[in-house]
Amino acid sequence: MGEINKLVARWVRPKIRQLSAYHVADAEGLVKLDAMENPYRWPETLREEWLDLLREVEINRYPHPQAPGVKAALRRSMSIPEDMELVLGNGSDELIQMIAMTVAGPDRRVLSVEPSFVMYRMIATFLGMEYQGVSLRPDFSLDMDTLLSEIERTQPALIFLAYPNNPTGNLFRQEEMVEVVESAPGLVVIDEAYAPFTDVSFIPRLGRYDNLLVMRTVSKMGLAGLRLGLLAGPAAWLNEIEKTRLPYNINVLTQISAEFSLSHQSVFDSQTAAIRQARDQLFKQLQQIPGVKPFASQANFILVRLAPARAGKIFDELRQCGILVKNLDGSHPLLADCLRVTVGTPEENAAFLAAFKP
Ligand SMILES: Cc1ncc(COP(=O)(O)O)c(C=O)c1O
Repeated sequence: MGEINKLVARWVRPKIRQLSAYHVADAEGLVKLDAMENPYRWPETLREEWLDLLREVEINRYPHPQAPGVKAALRRSMSIPEDMELVLGNGSDELIQMIAMTVAGPDRRVLSVEPSFVMYRMIATFLGMEYQGVSLRPDFSLDMDTLLSEIERTQPALIFLAYPNNPTGNLFRQEEMVEVVESAPGLVVIDEAYAPFTDVSFIPRLGRYDNLLVMRTVSKMGLAGLRLGLLAGPAAWLNEIEKTRLPYNINVLTQISAEFSLSHQSVFDSQTAAIRQARDQLFKQLQQIPGVKPFASQANFILVRLAPARAGKIFDELRQCGILVKNLDGSHPLLADCLRVTVGTPEENAAFLAAFKP
């Protein structure tokens, strides 16, 4: 072993050496149905107005450290109650990290359900926290008996529940989630990344429980490139979490672009409405294909189960036809033989269906 490898082996924490870096597939030249992005661009007039604003940006200056304009726009756009505080993150990924850093310690645990968003586990690992994943039921509902007994046994500092859940697309039952909030000894973060594609939310319940926070992002509504997420909840928690935020984490281009685009909310509303409609149509079309089981979704993607041992081959064939989806086979026992397809434009969905030969 070379000297550098010895050094790395000596100093890099074993838990980090064992990890694989978060993999993002190369999508060059492909129809991108792998990452839950909004496929629509802005109308040309809006792009021109935006560019006029960007021309004036003082790129030589640091951004506003608190981004008050962005916060006000997000409050309006997402109906955050006036008495709730906000913390902004460079994507909700960064917020997950900030929340976890706030409560981290060698004897502190993070709990979530599985399969769910992989960053909950990864970030717990980065911070040297123990992670407890409680398996969902085969229909992807919460396994309440196991969940409540694991909460009681492990006393997690932090619980994440994605609502709707990724990669399964379903909503957990609200009464059961409330039971989790009421049983948890620590924080419960409801991750509403896919809020633009469903009608339900825990935002109206903020303040009712001392340990409830809600996380949102602008990524899925159509601003994934900006990297902007927000955490809403009582000031007592958020003032502490805010201390872990790096100065200027929301850059000046993101601030100006977010404020501008959120003042044109109706553009995103009509795009996300079109995506919801296309999702329901794609679901029905997938239901008609023999040997395929699509799972009903309240998000902008659909999880599809194929016949045993077909997922890898179908994934490769789709790719050869220029279509990139996500192969989840092998990532969790409940995701055996599953692909996840992001809902695209009607043309992209048609291209996917034409190439999809399960
Ligand atoms: C449930 C969930 N939460 C958070 C994120 C991260 O979103 P962001 O782009 O805001 O970092 C994702 C991304 O796929 C997600 O699926």
